Amino acid sequence: MGLAEHTSRVVAQFDFSDEELNRHVDEFLKQANAGLKQDGTSLSQIPSYVTAVPNGTEKGIYLAVDLGGTNFRVCSVSLNGDSTFNLVYNKVAIPKNLMVAKTARDLFAFLAKQIELFLREHHRDHFESAAHRRSTMSFPEGYRDEQIFRLGFTFSFPVQQLGINKGKLIRWTKGFDIPDAVGKDVCKLLQDEIDRLGLPVKVAALVNDTVGTLMARSYTSAGKHRSLLGAIFGTGTNGAYIEKTASITKPIPGEYDKSTGEMVINTEWGSFDNELNVLPSTVWDQTLDRESVNPGIQMYEKRVSGMFLGEIVRLAINDMMKDDEASLFRDTNSSYNDWSTTTNVSPQSGLLSQWGLDTAVLSVAAADNTPELSTIRQELENTLQVYTPSLEDAQAFKAVAGAVVRRAARLAAVAIGAIVLQSGKLDDPEEELIDIGVDGSLVEHYPFFRDMIYEALRAIEGIGPSGADKIRIGIAKDGSGVGAALIALIAQKMEKPGDFLADLRRDIRRRLSLPFENAGMLPLQNHSTPAFCFLCSVSLAPSLLA
Ligand code: BGC
Repeated sequence: MGLAEHTSRVVAQFDFSDEELNRHVDEFLKQANAGLKQDGTSLSQIPSYVTAVPNGTEKGIYLAVDLGGTNFRVCSVSLNGDSTFNLVYNKVAIPKNLMVAKTARDLFAFLAKQIELFLREHHRDHFESAAHRRSTMSFPEGYRDEQIFRLGFTFSFPVQQLGINKGKLIRWTKGFDIPDAVGKDVCKLLQDEIDRLGLPVKVAALVNDTVGTLMARSYTSAGKHRSLLGAIFGTGTNGAYIEKTASITKPIPGEYDKSTGEMVINTEWGSFDNELNVLPSTVWDQTLDRESVNPGIQMYEKRVSGMFLGEIVRLAINDMMKDDEASLFRDTNSSYNDWSTTTNVSPQSGLLSQWGLDTAVLSVAAADNTPELSTIRQELENTLQVYTPSLEDAQAFKAVAGAVVRRAARLAAVAIGAIVLQSGKLDDPEEELIDIGVDGSLVEHYPFFRDMIYEALRAIEGIGPSGADKIRIGIAKDGSGVGAALIALIAQKMEKPGDFLADLRRDIRRRLSLPFENAGMLPLQNHSTPAFCFLCSVSLAPSLLA
């Protein structure tokens, strides 16, 4: 069997027919509804405590931080109240050793330090006057609520949310693995480290990036159409949509605004069909899962998102390279090689090591439509150290990569289509348009990813070509910046007057009940008033405790 025939066989394994597509939509709806009824199902359907979406008139300055992939981003956002905003940010790569650190503190102390550096650089006056007030210890001046930045914490991992700024980590995804953090309240982990540094910052809201994306899209497209769904197709994948609270029959602990009758649900669809009732499973999907840090979970994500697509392609290509008859990247295969006759793969090539093939290379392959596929061949040389690949080699690589991403796009349409169907908006004559905000490297950079989603949406029963025309999928930038800031604003509005002083009183009582030397060491809880002087609190206590 020659290379072309071998390639067709590999490509065929990634076919995803219309019939399968529809079977998946049915299963998605089943699992989505199960998640609204009880905890512990594969689609977690996490209530976000966000019960309204913005309308573009919101104003104020908020901080936002984003932990969710390879980078940590700190930003401050000025909401201008007219659907526009200004944003400044710093971004740092998360050191690999912290992604698998021994203790949660190692990671969260690093994050708090980045917030401090950001404040020193971009809000120096505010930072210094807060530090000055702290050192002069004058009350109430030292503890004025409005001088504390509210921060929206975008934490893009599955969390059991218990309130707008409270949530326990269910599990890590996307290559993170710090077992010590699982089951802990991630807002408190961050607030404790912020307090250790004495920063004037309160972690006001816990935000999933998809909820932020939905908020950002609603703020920036305000007045036109309210968005239904915010989705990420990047390193990971997930979606958040607006659900009627009446349909969420599992308990929602804690307080939330019941007046709107709606709540944003973070579906955590990355774990759709962990049981593999319907999801396709080639040998390469199975190997990828077996060798991942979290076998058996995030099974949908492992077929759809950027972190994994390169690896699926790498595993398939690797098998083709081992097959003598397929003879990929070997001289014997080159019936026509205009570059040289010394095709070879360096032992250091990324093709030979786990995660060695970046999904970005797949975008390059898809974009190259030159007759000689010269861009791909150059890319194979430069990034993968595959020297002088032939045209046939490049064609095989392009075909396999394209098939893996096409399956991913059609699977992406399963989740989008199911949520559109679930909303009932297709049949509502009042709804001219169903707006969906998307973000992430795949939708942004992979050529025609959105077109492949649309093509699949047209093939879904109940949507069809006319339904697909009603769906508008648009890029929503900065969910984790402006979106998180908007949720911090919503959270601030939900704070009851006096919440801040009540927290402070509680802390003072707690300190007074502790031995002197321990009391001064405690970080404040629930708000981020900086490091606190015990002696000072004693003299203030009578008025505060009144
Ligand atoms: C996480 C989600 C997140 C998604 C996109 C997934 O791995 O579980 O919480 O929204 O990645 O970043």
